[in-house]
Amino acid sequence: MARRVLITGGAGFIGSHTALVLLEQGYELVVLDNFDNSSPEALKRVKTLANSNALELVEGDVRDLDAVNRAFDRGGPVDGVIHFAGLKAVAESVANPLHYWDVNLNGSRVLATAMEQHQCRTLVFSSTSTVYGEPEVFPLHEEMPTAPVHPYAQTKLAVEQMLSALCRSGDWRVACLRYFNPVGAHPSGRIGEDPLGTPNNLFPFITQVAAGRRDKLRIFGQDYSTHDGTGIRDYLHVMDLAEAHSVTLDHLFHSTAPHQLTLNIGTGCGLSVLDVVRGFEKATGLPIPYEVVARRPGDVPKLEGCPQKAKDILGWSAKRDLAQMCRDGWTWQQANPLGYRSVP
Ligand code: WQD
Repeated sequence: MARRVLITGGAGFIGSHTALVLLEQGYELVVLDNFDNSSPEALKRVKTLANSNALELVEGDVRDLDAVNRAFDRGGPVDGVIHFAGLKAVAESVANPLHYWDVNLNGSRVLATAMEQHQCRTLVFSSTSTVYGEPEVFPLHEEMPTAPVHPYAQTKLAVEQMLSALCRSGDWRVACLRYFNPVGAHPSGRIGEDPLGTPNNLFPFITQVAAGRRDKLRIFGQDYSTHDGTGIRDYLHVMDLAEAHSVTLDHLFHSTAPHQLTLNIGTGCGLSVLDVVRGFEKATGLPIPYEVVARRPGDVPKLEGCPQKAKDILGWSAKRDLAQMCRDGWTWQQANPLGYRSVP
């Protein structure tokens, strides 16, 4: 019988790509989403791409125990949960920390409560590489100290700690995936990243400049101690990240003993802002005009993770290169100039 998986935030950028991979592997899915920063259209397209109807939607907020219970009680018993639902904008978390603690920590607490009530203790949690703070030694290993510098990262680390306590208290199987910078889109161009308003993140900003929706990219600082002075991140293709979730779930389902895993999910290869700009220009043949402006408050010079532990434990490593991230992100942007709102 097919395993049944609950995905919170399954209509979002990473959630929708993961839902597609899991549907294609024959899982039955229940998606809980409040569409705060996502669209039901993404889920329609996921079903069409997978040619599957094994995805049910419960519209609701992860902080609402009744809504979470509705998702658990929708069909047969849920075997495992992937928890994406949460907030992820660093600057917004500084401006409105209580909201971040409420959605990210309280949402996870409510979800874990419902999981206990339903005897479902297998969980993959969306954590972040920003828990390492402002590190000076690279590449980052999971055992290195955490020192989050903003509420977004603090709330994610707090959830990791809450989950550790649960693992010590009972029969839980938990994986915390510390994502680096997911970009790109499904190669079909049918699902992708759909930021509300002006994009905060580099990659959607670049694709909108390429499309003529914005006149130029503003590069936040060229005075970092990196090879060209611009900030370095470990960008990975969102399909590689989606596949990482599927192999993680598989690993947890097949593990005999309760445990908690913490894994970096990245390529291990840091790229500067200018590397990405040039890579995009080369992959698409389109110019990306830019100007260098002041550093963005809260940015760190560099984040680059060692993905070896994920390879050793899961057999997972990122397969797609920058050119593919750029091509697929651009295909999505061209086909959906206004994201999911492009649909009449
Ligand atoms: C990347 C680089 C910027 C925009 C993101 C998420 C956060 C977390 C980690 C998961 C930096 C530069 C950007 C622009 C620029 N997610 N930049 N001009 O800051 O690493 O954070 O990943 O854990 O939720 O927001 O990613 O894409 O914003 O920035 O020069 O218009 O691009 O300064 O060096 P970041 P980003």
